[in-house]
Amino acid sequence: MSKHIVLGVTGSIAAYKAAELVRLIKTSGNEVSVVMTKSATKFVAPLTFKTLSQNDVAVEMFDDSMVWNPVHINMADKADIIVIAPCTANVLAKTAHGLADDLLSATVLATKVPVLIAPAMNDRMWSNAATQANVETVRQRGIEVMEAGEGDLACGYCGSGRMPEPKDIMKAIAKILDVEMDS
Ligand SMILES: Cc1cc2nc3c(=O)[nH]c(=O)nc-3n(C[C@H](O)[C@H](O)[C@H](O)COP(=O)(O)O)c2cc1C
Repeated sequence: MSKHIVLGVTGSIAAYKAAELVRLIKTSGNEVSVVMTKSATKFVAPLTFKTLSQNDVAVEMFDDSMVWNPVHINMADKADIIVIAPCTANVLAKTAHGLADDLLSATVLATKVPVLIAPAMNDRMWSNAATQANVETVRQRGIEVMEAGEGDLACGYCGSGRMPEPKDIMKAIAKILDVEMDS
């Protein structure tokens, strides 16, 4: 049976890679609904995700055009898994501290399903003690945080902080849901 993946996309230069992730999810025969932070829309237009996912893209918390119930509750209810890819240092911190001041963080707080985080940030942001403490906190609560990749970063530095590759995120989703997800 096909799964419904709610994909959170945040304000990282790696947001373009989330488009490939949406494509892989769709070609694997599963459904995907994208929730973007406002910052994410500076990097990739919602139309890209709408077209690739064949679903509406949610950005606004206070949007009464889509469904009768609050969008974050609707998203949390229909998900089999919530994947945040790329996940900024900011959204990671908000998740660790239980903040709910935008649609994505409220959805994460409202869910009972597994949450998978694929971080993406500058190497110093990633290695910062605050970020690492946030990683530890969310892991202790059962959220899976993938290891950031090593290599050239879009900010011009080289180090740890690259978003894991979409195909590896697909493998992590399949493992958590205990299903085959060939695309
Ligand atoms: C060009 C550019 C690239 C950025 N890339 C990242 C990134 O990869 N990771 C990150 O944590 N923040 C990055 N930022 C900073 C975030 O966009 C900023 O913290 C923003 O408030 C995050 O909002 P959000 O977490 O609600 O999406 C970048 C900013 C700019 C201008």
